[in-house]
Amino acid sequence: MIELDNVSFMYENAARPALSNISFTIEDGEMLAVVGHNGSGKSTLAKQLNGLLLPTQGRVLVDGMDTSIEALLLKIRQRVGMVFQNPDNQLVTTIVEEDVAFGPESLGIPSQQIRERVDEALYAVGMSEYKLHAPHMLSGGQKQRVAIAGMLAMRPKVLVLDEATSMLDPEGRRDILEIVRRLNSELNMSVVLITQLMEEAAMCSRIAVLSQGELIRLEAPAAVFREEAMLCEAGLDVPEMVRLRSSLEKRGIFLEGEPLAINDFADAVAKRYSSTRQ
Ligand SMILES: Nc1ncnc2c1ncn2[C@@H]1O[C@H](COP(=O)(O)OP(=O)(O)O)[C@@H](O)[C@H]1O
Ligand SMILES: [Mg+2]
Repeated sequence: MIELDNVSFMYENAARPALSNISFTIEDGEMLAVVGHNGSGKSTLAKQLNGLLLPTQGRVLVDGMDTSIEALLLKIRQRVGMVFQNPDNQLVTTIVEEDVAFGPESLGIPSQQIRERVDEALYAVGMSEYKLHAPHMLSGGQKQRVAIAGMLAMRPKVLVLDEATSMLDPEGRRDILEIVRRLNSELNMSVVLITQLMEEAAMCSRIAVLSQGELIRLEAPAAVFREEAMLCEAGLDVPEMVRLRSSLEKRGIFLEGEPLAINDFADAVAKRYSSTRQ
């Protein structure tokens, strides 16, 4: 879906590149996490994915379209929707449904279709009943849901969330993750989940680890989390379930598999104890 080919990027007047020689592919329908410490290049990478920034070296192809070709940018931005960290910076109008219509209007879509898309998008994020509300009166989590709806109304193939849950309370965060997961599994939308939270990254099929502008790992969550020293060096945490497992192992209690979600962990513990009792 998106191909990065040896991408480097240098901000003007910067001492060192924000991204160095990054190559990888984001597959159709996959859910990819991008993790990294503050300043590791996550947002710079996100902005390469829809041509908001162009590589200083190398190239980015979105559905085969090179982001450096200006005539393709509108198409590229329609394919790759982006939601940022601060919910207050993303809403532009005074009524929720107008905000969601903003994107498709800019694409020149007929108004009857816009109506349908807006209703559908608000429904998908559970915000239908707020369509006539004022965005600035909503909670942070609701604002992010409206921002996601605004992207959905453009019918993107890829949704990029750049620390989109980081300013939300746990409930708002859970709602967003649940919606994103559903869009991925039901609509086969590719998702790039940029986060500093390992628990969020654990939900994805692969994790890309950035450190000082370099891609140092791109693997399945279990493989990444096994490398505690690497994560620590990159300034990242190890997920709680992984720490819990190694802490149990030190006490001689070994579980089957590498459960990363709390329910799977509970299942593994239950399984281990039902087998000792037999
Ligand atoms: N507009 C900018 N001008 C110059 N340097 C920038 C700019 N934005 C980010 N940087 C630098 O680029 C590096 C990567 O930043 P960023 O992509 O924002 O990282 P992250 O999102 O992982 O925190 C950092 O060293 C940061 O200071
Ligand atoms: Mg960032």
